[in-house]
Amino acid sequence: MIGRLNHVAIAVPDLDAGIALYRDSLGAAVSEPVDQPDHGVITVFVDLPNTKIELLHPLGENSPIAKFLERNPAGGIHHLCYEVTDIRAARDRLVGQGMRVLGSGEPKIGAHGKPVLFLHPKDVCGTLTELEEV
Ligand code: CO
Repeated sequence: MIGRLNHVAIAVPDLDAGIALYRDSLGAAVSEPVDQPDHGVITVFVDLPNTKIELLHPLGENSPIAKFLERNPAGGIHHLCYEVTDIRAARDRLVGQGMRVLGSGEPKIGAHGKPVLFLHPKDVCGTLTELEEV
């Protein structure tokens, strides 16, 4: 059911330092920062030949990654994102197997303008997992 690895998301305490690391030290193509007010984050995408890295930085008071950065002050891998062709069918199949979807259970529009859902990390080998419909 899951397809390509769409991205690996890394929470960063210092966005400029993260951009400089990926652009200047690692030599990758890095996007401009984009505010995602619906998700409480600022995103920067690093384009790699086979996938992307999503740098995440908190936006606003109640950012969902603020606590993560408190526990991981140097930053760290926050989630993985897999592509699916039908996000509601994928959700129904996984919920039918007892998996928990975070939030309302309805897809939200994600950083690429496509519907996304997050699965509870305790149900996916301890890894916060995003599904994105492509
Ligand atoms: Co993501």
